[in-house]
Amino acid sequence: MGSIIRHDKEDNALFVQQKKDYTINNYMKLDQSIVTPCYVYDLALLRQTLDTIISASAGMPARVHYALKANPDARIVAEVAQRGFGADCVSIGEVRHAIACGISADKCVYSGVGKTDPEIIEAIHLGIECFNVESLEELQIISHLASQNGKVAPIALRINPHIDAHTHHYITTGLAENKFGIDISLFDQALHLATTLPGLRFRGIHCHIGSQILTNEPFALLCTRINDLVARARQAGASVDYINVGGGLGVDYEEPVTNPIADFQGFFDTLRQGLDVPAGALIHCELGRSIVAQCGTILSCVIYVKEGLERHFVIIDAGMNNLIRPALYQAVHRIDNLSAPNGTPTATYDIVGPVCETADTFAEGYVLPRTRRGDILAIRSAGAYAESMASQYNLRQPAAVVYTEGEEIL
Ligand code: LLP
Repeated sequence: MGSIIRHDKEDNALFVQQKKDYTINNYMKLDQSIVTPCYVYDLALLRQTLDTIISASAGMPARVHYALKANPDARIVAEVAQRGFGADCVSIGEVRHAIACGISADKCVYSGVGKTDPEIIEAIHLGIECFNVESLEELQIISHLASQNGKVAPIALRINPHIDAHTHHYITTGLAENKFGIDISLFDQALHLATTLPGLRFRGIHCHIGSQILTNEPFALLCTRINDLVARARQAGASVDYINVGGGLGVDYEEPVTNPIADFQGFFDTLRQGLDVPAGALIHCELGRSIVAQCGTILSCVIYVKEGLERHFVIIDAGMNNLIRPALYQAVHRIDNLSAPNGTPTATYDIVGPVCETADTFAEGYVLPRTRRGDILAIRSAGAYAESMASQYNLRQPAAVVYTEGEEIL
C-alpha cells in the first residue's frame, strides 16, 4: 500500500502517512489542511527520469535542452540545471528564467516565430548558445540588430521538414501548412542568407515536428531529412556543428503510474543510428513533456456529485484554468479517486470543473468508484503543459504547489 500526502498551509510542509493508518478523508476531517486544487511534483521521479536520459544518451555527442514551456517551476528547472542540461526557450522571459535557475546562457537555445527586436537584442547580449531562426525576414533582422550592437549572432535554420508526426493537429508542427519554421523548399535561399549576412554565424539545422509522438518512425524519417540538409549545407561550403532535432517524445497517459518513464532508449537509439554527425558537431534535442509530465499530479476535491437527468456529474475544484489540455486537445488524463476504499462499486461520471464553460470537462463517461462530496481525485500526468498553461479565468486563484520525494499518491 502506498503513502498519501498532506500539505500544511501554515509552514508549507508536506506530511506523508501510510495509507493503512489514515485515508485522505480522515485528514480532511482531522485538520482540513490539504489545499486543493494543488499540483504535486515528485522530484525523485524527476531525477530518475533525468538519470534515464543521461544513461540512454551516454556516449553520444549530445546536449539535451529542457523545453521550459512544459513547466518552468523553479525547483524543476534547478534539478534539470544540476544535471548539466541546457534550456529550450521561446521567449526572453524563458531565457531569463533558465539563467536564474542555473542554466548558463551558453546552453540556452531560443526558438519562436515572433521574436521581437528587444528580445533578440537582449538574447544577443546575454550570449545565448543559438537562435533557431524561423523565417528569412528574421535572419535579416537578427543580422541587422547584431551588427548594430557590434556582435555576431549564432544561428541555426529551423526547417519545416514536411513530416507528419501523427499527433493532434494543434501540436503538429512539421507539416507544410504550419506557421513554424522555414519551408524546406526555401532552404538554399535561407542558407545563402545565413552564411553571407554579416551579423550571423551559421551553426546548423533545427527541426521540431510535433509533440506526444509515440513511435520512432517520425524521428527516423526526421534523421534522414536532417542528414540531407546537413550534406547540402556542407556541399555549399558551410560548416555544421549544431544539429537540433527538437522535442516531441510522448508519454503514457493511459498507464502513468505503472509506466512513468518515456522510451528515451528508443528515442536516442533512433538518433544514434539515424544521424550522420560531422566531426566536432553536437546533436541537440529539446525535450519537454517526456521530462516532466509524469512527475506531476493534480489533487482536486469533489465539491458536488450532481445527478443529471441522463448523466452523473462529478464537480471538482480544479478546472480548465489548472489543466486546459482536455478542453483544448481532447486530451485524456487518467483520474483516480484516492478516497474510495478498495472494492467500492463503480459508476460512470462526467468529471467537470467549476469554470463557466461547457468545455471545462476533464472526462466524459468516465468510470470511477462511487464518488462522494469531499473525495480527493488525482489527475495524473499533469507535470507538463498544466501549470504552465494555467490562467486566472473567472478570477480563480492559482493552485498551490507541493513537492514530494517519491511518495506514491494512491
Ligand atoms: N521544441 C520546440 C521548438 C517546441 O515547439 C516544443 C513544443 C518543444 C521543443 C517541446 O516539445 P515536447 O518535448 O514537450 O513535446 N501544449 C501542448 C504541447 C505544445 C508543444 C509546443 N511545442 C500539449 O499540452 O500537448
